[in-house]
Amino acid sequence: MKHLIVGATGNIGSRVTRRLVESGARPSVFVRSANKARALFGDHVDIHAGDFDKPGSSLTATLAGVDSIFLLTDGPDLEQRDRAVSFAARHAGVRHVVKLSTLDVRNGIGTGPWHARGEDAIRGSGMAFTFIQAAGFMSNALGWSQSIRHAGLLRSSTGSGKIAFIHPDDIAAVAVTALTSRDHDGQALVITGPEALSYGEMAATIGRAIGKPVGFEQISDRQAYTDTIEWAGEGPYVDALVGIWRAVREGRLDTVTDGVQRVTGREPIPFAQWAAENAASFQ
Ligand SMILES: NC(=O)c1ccc[n+]([C@@H]2O[C@H](COP(=O)([O-])OP(=O)(O)OC[C@H]3O[C@@H](n4cnc5c(N)ncnc54)[C@H](OP(=O)(O)O)[C@@H]3O)[C@@H](O)[C@H]2O)c1
Repeated sequence: MKHLIVGATGNIGSRVTRRLVESGARPSVFVRSANKARALFGDHVDIHAGDFDKPGSSLTATLAGVDSIFLLTDGPDLEQRDRAVSFAARHAGVRHVVKLSTLDVRNGIGTGPWHARGEDAIRGSGMAFTFIQAAGFMSNALGWSQSIRHAGLLRSSTGSGKIAFIHPDDIAAVAVTALTSRDHDGQALVITGPEALSYGEMAATIGRAIGKPVGFEQISDRQAYTDTIEWAGEGPYVDALVGIWRAVREGRLDTVTDGVQRVTGREPIPFAQWAAENAASFQ
């Protein structure tokens, strides 16, 4: 089977690509930078350079002979990319699209509405699909590294609310299972980490991983917004993030599912393991 990975140079897409390579497959990757892809995957993938944001830089030419696509798109207008890719894929005879979506399509929080429109666009194309509705990623915690390194502190507007962050490797494992079998066609797989934790509990877990106490400081939504625009700039992404943190605080994002176990046959990876693997980022 031939797989095409969109977003292969990113956090999740690179893990999906590596897993496919390790299984003996030779995936194609649609990437903005061929050099970046070569540095990540050497000669083990077929590289197609392209950019969704550049007119005339289409994915269509890469679809010949492709059986399934891992589709990772982002931003408030991601539905346009999801629509274009799924219609082109259907036309080219691709069998299946696996879209990385979010659990928040179910509650309309944060980026949920963006992905809900993307899912609708794919359904509308008539392509066979699997939607991976993932909880927040454990790797989001890398955004706390500066404040933990310099102040031994995680500052957040999430209060004592909890969320079951998921390990990126679990998302990749679910994606590869969905890409390589027909067992999950037509399904939305709701996947989370093994337990919902507060940000204070995650701070303490990171503290244990690095052998130093890490505290938690509650900040207001306004402060969270001001802090976030410093690195992300103003716009819909910051609004989405502050909305997610508010929803965590209000206890609206503490869903835990057995999705990873059902799809992969094993338990999801706990946050303590992610923290141990990434301890160097917080020291
Ligand atoms: N973070 C969370 O908690 C969370 C939870 C649920 C769902 N999600 C969803 O997960 C996705 C983000 O996954 P991620 O963390 O793996 O993202 P990421 O690390 O930022 O990777 C994004 C990938 O997309 C590529 N890309 C960006 N713009 C492109 C363009 N114009 N044309 C072609 N390729 C382009 C990037 O290429 P370059 O390497 O060239 O930049 C990169 O390979 C989003 O859809 C998000 O909504 C996130």
